[in-house]
Amino acid sequence: MSKTPITVAVTGAAGQIGYSLLFRIASGALFGPDQPVNLRLIEIEPAMGALGGVVMELDDCAFPLLNSITPTCDLDEGFKGANWSILVGSVPRKAGMERKDLLNINGKIFTGQGKAIEKNAAADARVLVVGNPCNTNCLIAMNNAKGIPADRWFAMTRLDENRAKSQLAAKSGAHHSSVTNLAIWGNHSATQYPDFYNAKIGGVPATEVISDHEWLQGDFISTVQQRGAAIIKARGSSSAASAANAACDTVRSLTSPTPAGDWTSVAVCSDGSYGIEKGLMFSFPIRTDGNKWEIVQGVPVNEFSQAKIKATEDELREERAAVTELGLI
Ligand code: NAD
Ligand code: LMR
Repeated sequence: MSKTPITVAVTGAAGQIGYSLLFRIASGALFGPDQPVNLRLIEIEPAMGALGGVVMELDDCAFPLLNSITPTCDLDEGFKGANWSILVGSVPRKAGMERKDLLNINGKIFTGQGKAIEKNAAADARVLVVGNPCNTNCLIAMNNAKGIPADRWFAMTRLDENRAKSQLAAKSGAHHSSVTNLAIWGNHSATQYPDFYNAKIGGVPATEVISDHEWLQGDFISTVQQRGAAIIKARGSSSAASAANAACDTVRSLTSPTPAGDWTSVAVCSDGSYGIEKGLMFSFPIRTDGNKWEIVQGVPVNEFSQAKIKATEDELREERAAVTELGLI
């Protein structure tokens, strides 16, 4: 191993997503085939036994890139030296719940984790929040770690982007890899707006390739918004492998240059772009050179899109008010 290992902390490491995610990280799927990794695996005390089993399985893979594994239920130890922290650990919703119903249960987890990241993580710490409701959980963690710049905090909407691409591909008969410029605006929730107006299929506007605009404005949006609930109904538990895959996609997309002309979706701290209130964790179209990211400016927003974006912004304001009321930020 010639390169210095990257240290990745993962919370909820013994959970469903963790069971998919850790093996991808250890195999090189996030940082490439020549980048060694240290895994710092964080769980709550009652899950430490199960985490021990996951560690045995990681050992048994003999991954060439896996430099060390540290299983722990101590946050200071868990986030020590972390270059990337992927915050998954939290309770998933059950059928009939909205993700924001989890704020009361999960929100408080992210105060302590934010503080521990600020105290222990590496100087270049970056954080991706997956645990729901991920935008507002990320807001909580970020506000409890004010020493870490706001541009290092991300909440995951890549699963929604991937879902939207797959729906457009299925409708048009194209392969999903030909769908580009698909922005998810706003919250990872039932108000998110998958922006088909700016999406392209094979380089052609999706609205030209797909003539059924009623479907685009109706069933397409609601299918993407409700996909998580549909999976919970079908599987009896929430998406896990596709969520882990999206977490890998997110980190990879933030650490490698965005293909020319394209963009990707992730929730970041709003700087006021597109009139979105500053400080909200809002999903935008993002580009990066692999090091520094920016919100893509000048993406056309028509009246239909504007109304959808406003609705999801309003929901994020309400979530922020709720966690302010709970004293979490
Ligand atoms: P899970 O119940 O299988 O696993 C969660 C794990 O987190 C458990 O092992 C639990 O012990 C652990 N945990 C709980 N509290 C913790 C804490 N304070 N510190 C560390 N670990 C803790 O759930 P899952 O299916 O892995 O889902 C995890 C979260 O991810 C849920 O909130 C789910 O809704 C969310 N999720 C988000 C997306 C997304 O697109 N953003 C997609 C899928 C799932
Ligand atoms: C998803 O989108 O699949 C996850 O956020 C889980 C959920 O609660 O929908």
